[in-house]
This record gives sequence, structure tokens and C-alpha cells, in this order.
Amino acid sequence: MKTIEVKKAEGKLGVLVVGIGGAVSTTFIAGTLAARKGLGTPIGSITQLSTIKLSETETAKIKDVLPIAKLDDIVFGGWDLFEENCYDAARHHAVLTVEDLDGVKEELQAIKPMKAAFDQDFVKRLHGTNVKKADTKWDLMLQLKEDIANFKAANGCARIVVIWAASTEVYVPMSSVHMDLATFQKAMKENSHEVAPSMLYAYAAIDSGVPFINGAPALTVDFPAMWQLAAEKHVPICGKDFKTGQTLLKTVLSPMLHTRMLGLRGWFSTNILGNRDGEVLDDPDSFKTKEVSKLSVLDTILKPDEYPELYGNIFHKVRINYYPPRGDNKEGWDNLDIIGWMGYPMQIKVDFLCRDSILAAPLLLDLVLLNDLAQRCGFEGIQHWLSFYFKSPMHELDGAPIHDLFQQNVMLRNKMREIIGCEYRSNVD
Ligand SMILES: NC(=O)c1ccc[n+]([C@@H]2O[C@H](COP(=O)([O-])OP(=O)(O)OC[C@H]3O[C@@H](n4cnc5c(N)ncnc54)[C@H](O)[C@@H]3O)[C@@H](O)[C@H]2O)c1
Repeated sequence: MKTIEVKKAEGKLGVLVVGIGGAVSTTFIAGTLAARKGLGTPIGSITQLSTIKLSETETAKIKDVLPIAKLDDIVFGGWDLFEENCYDAARHHAVLTVEDLDGVKEELQAIKPMKAAFDQDFVKRLHGTNVKKADTKWDLMLQLKEDIANFKAANGCARIVVIWAASTEVYVPMSSVHMDLATFQKAMKENSHEVAPSMLYAYAAIDSGVPFINGAPALTVDFPAMWQLAAEKHVPICGKDFKTGQTLLKTVLSPMLHTRMLGLRGWFSTNILGNRDGEVLDDPDSFKTKEVSKLSVLDTILKPDEYPELYGNIFHKVRINYYPPRGDNKEGWDNLDIIGWMGYPMQIKVDFLCRDSILAAPLLLDLVLLNDLAQRCGFEGIQHWLSFYFKSPMHELDGAPIHDLFQQNVMLRNKMREIIGCEYRSNVD
């Protein structure tokens, strides 16, 4: 077996978050800072809490055997449209209590957002003031590269990872502009409308040799020009759209139906949420991006072409409703119209009273640590083994995503075992 040579996690790891003043980002940062002070448990984080089988009889804690960076070595920075430091922004989002935030108040206050690369046309509901100016999108991208280099030098970081946890941009379908690197570079210089701000962050990161993670559903880093750049620069990339609440349930419930050969006639999913993300998604163009990501799941798991009598006629609908009284505490309802023996109809109802940012935060922690690890392993391009974390896992144009959470878990853990240098493989985990 060929062993992977893993460079040691020496020195500091700079984690640059796009949308650092957001609910998800501030909850992630505050929780990570609290965990390293022993003030909170990073619940939901696979890298921090889970164990892994190393043989039929041997099990170890992932963080003891996988060479990921230590939480103490992380330095946070990032960009946002709003100038508030991370403490004030977190108070404003009111996801975590003042008591929890005050445990890491000084550290959070010291994190101030850099000016954002922003274009109102791509997020219509937000009007920020902390925004860069430049003549072309190419120039904006160069400014982002400079930010990355300056942050690295100022904080004495050995390595950097960039993660997009900023607002969902309006839907930009893949077009000829995105198909090759030279055309895409020209489009940035010509201020093409098919170049979204998120793509500028992705380009700046990859061109700087820095891994890029996309936590939102937009195209961002998921098109051939960006894959080409990632290959040229030997940089890992992954996305899209953190898999947190309703879709997490969907990727668990639909394999159950499929495994038991139960049919499905309709799946209606609706949400109420009142945070800034909900406000942005209230704009139909931003919602369209989210809708495409959320709808992609069922077909690949249920395989309607192979089982037309069970899944050939599914009505799948997803709604998101902005409802301010709930803030970050989203409620997601699912109604499944399923079909059993002899075609008799039944229903399943799920009412998930969740907290959006509380579910998302551990995914950000795992993803930044695992992408830094991927880079030290010499991995480049799309990181399929990290599909576990995404609603709409990236894949090549002629490939297919794996959506089933349990299959994704097996992929994740077998890759971890390969990195550890352990020969054991499991199909179940
Ligand atoms: N919470 C979840 O469960 C979950 C799951 C999947 C995906 N997401 C996605 O994560 C993202 C963040 O969610 P949130 O609840 O924290 O939203 P939020 O609105 O609280 O935070 C987003 C932040 O991004 C900033 N921003 C927007 N455009 C920017 C740009 N071009 N540059 C820099 N900053 C920019 C905004 O000012 C805001 O502070 C959203 O796209 C959301 O759809 C969240």
C-alpha cells in the first residue's frame, strides 16, 4: 500500500472566513475559542469528538491519530460588509448567550473584518459599508490576494485556509465564461456579470496556494476554470452548502425508504427562520441558488430511473419563509407522502426545531482542519471525501455526487485511515 506523506502541522494556521460577521461565522469562532479555553464542548465536530476504528478490535480518538492542526494554533481573520468586530456581531445575532460570549470577549473583540469584495447585484437585501473599491473585478481579486498575504505575514501564520460562510448570492448558472481559465480571467478583467464576488475570493485563495471551502450553494469554486486553477496550484477545494438541518434529515430518511423499497410520491419541506440569512433568502434570486442545492439530493439517492414504479413521479418542493420572530432558531417541517405494499399511501411528518448556526459551526471547524490536512497530504482539486459535510457535494462534470450520509461517512473515514497509514478499511463504520 502506498503511504501518504503528510507534512507536519507546524506553526500557526490562519483561518480566513468570508462573512466573518455573520451568525454562522461568529458562532463557529466563539465556540472554537471557548473550546480551547475549556469553556465549551465542540459538540457536532467529528474531528474533535469522534473515534475511528483502526482494526476490528482497535479504536482511537480521531484527534489523537489524525495529524490535524491543534485548536490552539488557529488564528482567525476574515472579511465582511459590516465593520462590527466579532464580539459585537455575535451579540447582535444573539445565537450564543452573553455569558458564553463574555468568556472569550477580548479575543472576539480583537477580530475586525477586512473590507469585503461585494456587489449589490449579487446579494440584493444587504447594504454594507465596509466594502472595497476597484475598477475591475480582477483588481478586486488582487486586493483579496494582498489581504491574504498581509494577514499571513502580520500573524506569523505558516498556512492559511479560506472558508466562504457569507450570504447566498443570486443564482448564476454555469456558462461558457466558467469553462476555462483564460476565458474566466478575461471575464474578471471585463467586469462580466457572470463573475460573482464569491468567485473572486475563491480565485484569490487558490492563486495564493490556499485551500478554499464553499459553505453556501453558489457556483463560487465549482466550475472547470476554477478546477483548472486548483490543479495548477495544487490546492484542495470543496463545497457546496453546509449540510446542517433539513437536508441532513433528507439524506438519512431517503436511504431508509430506498433500502426498504418503500415508494415516495411527494416530499414537501418548508422552513421558517428570522436571521439575516433568512432575509437574504427571501429574495427569489438568492432563494433559487438554495433551491437548486436542496432539490439535488433525492434523485441521486432514490434512483428514479432504476425504480420508476417507486420514485418515477415524485413531487419535491422546498420553501424557505423569512419570519423574524424566530431569529436563528429555525423550524423545519417535512411532510413525506410514502407508498407501501400494494400501493397504499402513508405519511411521515418531521418537525425539526433547530438552531441554524449551532448546527453549522462544527462543520466549519472540521472543514478548515481537514482542508489544511488535505493540503499537507499533497491532495489537490475537489475533495470528494469531504462530501459528508455538504448538501450538494462538488463533482466533475461527468461524475456523480454521493448524497447518502452513511456512504459519505464511510468515504470520510476510509480516507482518514489512509492518511493515518492504517490498512484497515470498513464498508459500514
Ligand atoms: N446555518 C446553516 O445551517 C447553513 C447551512 C448551509 C449553508 N449556510 C449558508 O451559510 C451562509 C452564512 O449563513 P449565516 O446564517 O451566517 O448568514 P448571515 O447573513 O448571518 O452572515 C453572512 C455574512 O456574510 C456577509 N457578506 C455577504 N456578502 C459578502 C461578501 N461578498 N464579502 C464578505 N462578506 C459578505 C454579510 O454581511 C453577513 O455578515 C449563508 O450563505 C447560508 O446560506 C448556512
